[in-house]
Amino acid sequence: MTELPRPRPGIQQIAAYVGGQSKLQGQAEVLKLSSNENPLGPGPAALAAFRALVGGNAGASLHRYPSSDHAQLRAAIADLHGLDAARVICGVGSDEIIALLCHAYAGEGDEVLYSAHGFLMYRISALAAGATPVIAPETERRADVDALLAAVTPRTRLVFLANPNNPTGTFLPEAEVQRLADGLPPSVLLVLDGAYVEYINGFDGGLSMVEARENVVVTRTFSKIYGLGGLRVGWGYAPGHVIDALSRIRPPFNLSDMQQEIAIAALGDQAHVARSRDENAAARAWLTAALRGMGLAVDDSEGNFVLARFAGADAALAADAAARDAGIILRRMDSYGFPEALRITVGTMEDCQRLVSVLAGQGKGQAGAGRT
Ligand SMILES: Cc1ncc(COP(=O)(O)O)c(C=O)c1O
Repeated sequence: MTELPRPRPGIQQIAAYVGGQSKLQGQAEVLKLSSNENPLGPGPAALAAFRALVGGNAGASLHRYPSSDHAQLRAAIADLHGLDAARVICGVGSDEIIALLCHAYAGEGDEVLYSAHGFLMYRISALAAGATPVIAPETERRADVDALLAAVTPRTRLVFLANPNNPTGTFLPEAEVQRLADGLPPSVLLVLDGAYVEYINGFDGGLSMVEARENVVVTRTFSKIYGLGGLRVGWGYAPGHVIDALSRIRPPFNLSDMQQEIAIAALGDQAHVARSRDENAAARAWLTAALRGMGLAVDDSEGNFVLARFAGADAALAADAAARDAGIILRRMDSYGFPEALRITVGTMEDCQRLVSVLAGQGKGQAGAGRT
């Protein structure tokens, strides 16, 4: 028998990431609340940039490779946030920055640490790099700094913390994040994943920590509040020595010129960001209260989604089925270790009301969750 080529052992341990479903059989129109997308979509400036590119003569240069240094996009990001453009790196979503960090800093025998309900891509990227994922317990679904620090070993290379966290929506106050950074050996890189940072007014997601320390990195994305998940643009801000390492392995033409130009237009439209933040906050408060009113356990969320915990896995399954029957797609949380929960993206107020009326109609007598 000939032996087939085999991937490295870590690869076989990866359960491939499955994105939120966007279609339901037999339903032409669905309400997708499964991927933490902005229900308002992209802002007018990003849309205008897209239309100008498609309607203009951008096609005439499709045979040309795009800018590989992302100079204009990095400058626009740096301008908006008051950063050093030389220490901004852009990727195909923040997913790519996470992957680059794992490939550059963790390999066989190394450990990548994150908290129990951390974003799934931390595990996938760690295993893809040949490293060992390590999980620290959380307290009440929130990252626990003491538990994270206790899990650090001489093999730890990276610590990932999403703040706010997906899928719990919980937030670790800045003083706690500073305490985490203070407690880590200087050789360990702390990655602050800011995918949902803009949903908290005035929060910089740790960008100032990057300025003050040599081992802190922040990742950000255009996929959430900017309403551009389909564009696939994210970025990181890091000390110069980290940018140097990541730049050596970043695929040089990872972003097309169109991606870069639309992202620049989106940055210039902070009115859309503010409106998205305000509408999300109002709809999230309403949704949280309505779900709690039905007896579900829901933590305060700082993101554009809430985690609704039911009495058990069966109740969650029944609610998911009822939502689907009504054309609404939610996200099952089995892969995050929450079989009793559904993650619900905060839609428009109207979307939230539609969902709640479906769940209320279905859930009577089933939704008696143990509230914490
Ligand atoms: C916490 C967190 N980090 C990173 C990402 C990756 O987003 P993207 O690759 O679209 O920037 C997501 C997407 O859902 C997320 O929830």
